Parts: sequence; structure tokens; C-alpha cells
Amino acid sequence: MPYIEQSFNLPEMTGLSTKQMEAHFKLYAGYVKNVNAVAAKIDEYKKDSEANAAAISELTRRYAFEWNGMRLHEIYFAGLGGDGSIIGPLADAIAGYYGSIDTWKADVKAMAMMRGIGWVLLVLDRTTNTMRNIWVSDHEVSHLAGCDILFALDVWEHAYLLDYMPAQRADYVNAVFANVNWAAAETRFIA
Ligand SMILES: [Fe+2]
Repeated sequence: MPYIEQSFNLPEMTGLSTKQMEAHFKLYAGYVKNVNAVAAKIDEYKKDSEANAAAISELTRRYAFEWNGMRLHEIYFAGLGGDGSIIGPLADAIAGYYGSIDTWKADVKAMAMMRGIGWVLLVLDRTTNTMRNIWVSDHEVSHLAGCDILFALDVWEHAYLLDYMPAQRADYVNAVFANVNWAAAETRFIA
């Protein structure tokens, strides 16, 4: 069954322009389209899997890039449009691990300032009930197996270049925190 593009009714946000968000939604739509296209192509090639072995191999690897690009954007967009307040059981748990929400935010920000494109994710390992900020290159490199993603921060340049210069990545991260919809992260934590 094909994946369907989700829509996100975000309010006007200070620091993240409508123009920037609309451009980003279009880019997200491309990932959804490609998830479906790559899967269909793999199925087609599998009709003659011997002749198409190389192409199947490439597309199979490609699928994770497209799929994670789709899903991470959905988590990112769902986490925007709020008033920036970080409260509730997840916030309490983060404060327990990191000492305080401000310390956690500083860790997210430091990771977001790393060179390169990718994502900063707050992930939860339900096996040990521990959480950690991690860096993911592109969309699919260096995920931690079995961990749930609670919060996603897009630090590809396309996420902010209409509003900020490349050297202003920290200002973009501040804007995300100022507009964070923490209820989305809480819902995933409690689920
Ligand atoms: Fe993005």
C-alpha cells in the first residue's frame, strides 16, 4: 500500500517563515513520492531478479534514505507549531538524565552545530529506559537499533536557508525550540 503524504497545519511561527515551511513541505512530499516509487521499482525488478541484481541492491539501500527522510520529517513537523514550553513526564525524564532541560537543549544545540547535514534526534531505548541525543548523517546513517525517536531536529541546510545564513544555524535551532510543540514528543514517550 502506498504511503500517503501527511499535511501539517502549522500556525505562523516567529523565526520559521511560511515560505521556508512551504518549501520544506514540498521537499518532504518528494520523499513520500520516492518511498513509493522505489518500492514499486524494486518489485518490478524482482520479476527478473538475476538480471536486475545490481539495480535491486542499489534501490534496496536507497529505500532507507527515502523512508527515513519521510518519517523524520513527519516527526519534525509534528514537533513544531507549539509555544515552546517543554513540560510533562518526558521533560521530567530528560531533566533526570541531563540534569536540566537547559542542559539537554545545550547538548542538542552543540550537536546541531556539528559540521555536515543530518539530524539531531532524542531517542529512547525502552529496553533499558535510557535516552540520548544522537546525530544521524543524511537520514539513515548511525541510527541506534531498537530506539524510539521522541524529538527530531532537521539540520539539513534546506531546513533554514530561506530564513538564515549557513553561519546562523544556532539562530535556527533557537527558533525551533521557541516553536516546539512538545505535546508531540510527549505522546511518543507515553505511547
Ligand atoms: Fe528537511
